Amino acid sequence: MKTLKSAARDFVVFYLNGVRTEVRGLDVFKTVAEYLRYSRGLTGTKIVCAEGDCGACTILRARPGERLEAINSCIALVAQLDLCHVVTIEGIAREGQLSPVQNAMVQCHGSQCGYCTPGFVMAMSWMFEHHKTIDEKCARNHLTGNLCRCTGYQPILDAALAVKNHDSLTRRYIVAAHIKNLARLAKRSVAIKTEHRALFMPVSLKELSTYRKRHPDSLILGAATDLGVLLNKGKHPLTHLVSLTHLRELNTVRWQRTRSVVRVSVGANVTLSQLRKQLEKKAPAVAATLDLFASPQIKNVATLAGNVANASPIGDTLPILLALDASVRTQTRSIPIDQFFIGYRKTALKKGEIIRAIEFTIPRSGDFFRFFKTSQRKDLDISCVNAALFARKSNRGFSELRIAYGGVAATPLRLKRVETLLRHQVIAADLIERAIAQLAKDITPRSDLRGSEAYRLRVSQNILRELLTEAAAHG
Ligand SMILES: Cc1cc2nc3c(=O)[nH]c(=O)nc-3n(C[C@H](O)[C@H](O)[C@H](O)COP(=O)(O)OP(=O)(O)OC[C@H]3O[C@@H](n4cnc5c(N)ncnc54)[C@H](O)[C@@H]3O)c2cc1C
Ligand code: FES
Ligand code: FES
Repeated sequence: MKTLKSAARDFVVFYLNGVRTEVRGLDVFKTVAEYLRYSRGLTGTKIVCAEGDCGACTILRARPGERLEAINSCIALVAQLDLCHVVTIEGIAREGQLSPVQNAMVQCHGSQCGYCTPGFVMAMSWMFEHHKTIDEKCARNHLTGNLCRCTGYQPILDAALAVKNHDSLTRRYIVAAHIKNLARLAKRSVAIKTEHRALFMPVSLKELSTYRKRHPDSLILGAATDLGVLLNKGKHPLTHLVSLTHLRELNTVRWQRTRSVVRVSVGANVTLSQLRKQLEKKAPAVAATLDLFASPQIKNVATLAGNVANASPIGDTLPILLALDASVRTQTRSIPIDQFFIGYRKTALKKGEIIRAIEFTIPRSGDFFRFFKTSQRKDLDISCVNAALFARKSNRGFSELRIAYGGVAATPLRLKRVETLLRHQVIAADLIERAIAQLAKDITPRSDLRGSEAYRLRVSQNILRELLTEAAAHG
């Protein structure tokens, strides 16, 4: 522990609009938006919802070796900028000249009260970092995480389509000298302690394990898309944090093939955007489910491990993972996902245990896989009820069948009795109705602001009818 302490840094370091920036003490625990506005006077970044919902606080961040991504700075902690390159709205103009994106917003009247404008400019700038040319669909997809209450959006979309000659922020800000400077510090863990708060960012699994043994009650910090909201709402003080972000072993997506079964293992630091890209060719139906998850700003940071550990009964990846026979890998064991959720927001993780990776099976060609999400709007909304079904057919009905639901019980639920009823049977209308009757016995929906008990029951039954009808007709 002595060597550990002497080697550890007591500050986080990053490049902010090209300027090397070290942060110590309490500022490390602030949200990035608060730090920018109140510690640095960079008030171009706005805070509106402080929940990741509106995009007004959008900035760009590149983790070591990665590209600039748009993120919500209102729910990210300064700690999460360690070893990163950060660009804010103040870094967009060049030598007093507005950027091409800013110019287009002016020309197309994309701004009225202006409160949302920095966020839109940053999201648009991010889009042009990744796409030389765009069309309206591309613009809409990249801007789903930004809300405007004044313009009606059309002038903003017009501005996006009018941008010419985007000036690459990656080329301007992610330069070799800065990368080298940060890389020199990457071998040292970070240990920051204030009177009431502590943060540890290990660089090896051994360091992590030693620390967690000593501090089993410390809280694992993923991307903070759940935790940051709790902090802002005063529901959790986030006083003692352990961030896994510098554990490179957790950054990878690994593919494993055993005979005809392909399993994918998703490291705890892999973001949902990175996962989507990896799945796009090999499992397009699974990749497409992530289009219904949050906004680009959230997916650019949020992790699958965080969604699973958060154990919300309406977490969107959970029915998908249950249907795809997933398992949760910790430091020492692999837990089948249908044994992982043991109560309302309670998991089978023991004190000190972390999720290293989530593994799941990729559907084969000919398999049926489908995910349903019901929410009040398509983009950036939380599910009322969600469901996933995986089916493999044989000569007589489904030889393999897994059906899972969220939002209908205290935990995400695998409908094993419904599966037993249907397996190896000819799927006819009367059997589907019996399955629907069984579902009603197995779920315990509750009323809340997203839907009443009766609505949840009805929608769950309708989803099952639809899923089974489609699965039966498949192939
Ligand atoms: C605007 C907005 C929209 C959202 N939309 C959706 C949506 O559409 N669908 C949906 O399901 N969710 C949604 N979420 C919730 C959230 O984005 C996800 O749950 C996300 O996957 C959490 O990942 P994270 O890395 O940010 O976790 P964090 O917030 O960092 O952590 C969440 C929990 O998991 C624990 N944890 C994290 N990583 C590990 C690990 N490796 N080992 C052990 N414990 C760990 C943390 O201690 C914490 O308890 C949304 C959130 C916001 C703010
Ligand atoms: S302030 Fe609304 S997303 Fe951050
Ligand atoms: S211009 Fe007023 S909120 Fe968008």
